[in-house]
Amino acid sequence: MNNHHTPKEQEMTNMDHDTSENTAPTEDGKHPLFGRIRSFVHRRAHITPGQQQALDTLMQKWGITYSPTLLDFEQVFKRSAPTILEIGFGMGETTEKICLTRKDENFLGVEVFNAGVGSMLNRIENSGLTNMRIIQHDAVDVVNHMIPLESLAGIHIYFPDPWQKKRHHKRRLIQSPFVKLLAERLKTGGYIHCATDWENYAEQMLEVLSAEPLLQNTADGYAPKPDYRPQTKFETRGFRLGHSSWDLVFTKK
Ligand SMILES: C[S@@+](CC[C@H](N)C(=O)[O-])C[C@H]1O[C@@H](n2cnc3c(N)ncnc32)[C@H](O)[C@@H]1O
Repeated sequence: MNNHHTPKEQEMTNMDHDTSENTAPTEDGKHPLFGRIRSFVHRRAHITPGQQQALDTLMQKWGITYSPTLLDFEQVFKRSAPTILEIGFGMGETTEKICLTRKDENFLGVEVFNAGVGSMLNRIENSGLTNMRIIQHDAVDVVNHMIPLESLAGIHIYFPDPWQKKRHHKRRLIQSPFVKLLAERLKTGGYIHCATDWENYAEQMLEVLSAEPLLQNTADGYAPKPDYRPQTKFETRGFRLGHSSWDLVFTKK
């Protein structure tokens, strides 16, 4: 693993970002969100018996328990290969397709949603995937405490919750402090790929990613959809209704 930082150095960097004690809004009304974005709600969504059974039986096979300890990807995936972090894979449809076509890369998916994790576990088993592992926990904690600096080849964040109301924008994942944490965990030349179908969030993504000094845009503004990202059913329906979606691909300098 190409990690130039000792765990102690990483702890110091994390502390620089960790203002979790300080949750009062600042003068401009923004929250100092370093490491404390409430980007999801705990939903009591329906879970099928198959998904529940997968959670009960397959998590020990494909899951990694959250703990504030840096991961060693070679140990986790039992091989040396580029590792891609995906945040919020939902039901895992896109993730499964990408894992199947990019077998030489490791995929670490982070999701909080029970039914989604159950569904992804079943996909791993049914497709015979060996290059995917799951952490069921808040991605902000995972990034902060489990992902070594300069360790990732890529990061995928597809259709993150748009938190449409202005007063909820502070719950959006793509904000400067979190993007900085992500960029620090990419290797030089590694990429971050975001997609959204919400124009106002696309604008925020472009602004925040462009402003991060560690990153550079691969396109002049929004990027063409890379071939490896399949068009989702949701997007296909949206396009028929005249909606758009935007991809953003930035690389680490
Ligand atoms: C709108 S869904 C998109 C799912 C999928 N990427 C897709 O394109 O269909 C966003 C997902 O992100 C997950 N999520 C939101 N915040 C998260 C966080 N902090 N950590 C892990 N997962 C998160 C939600 O549970 C949800 O499943």
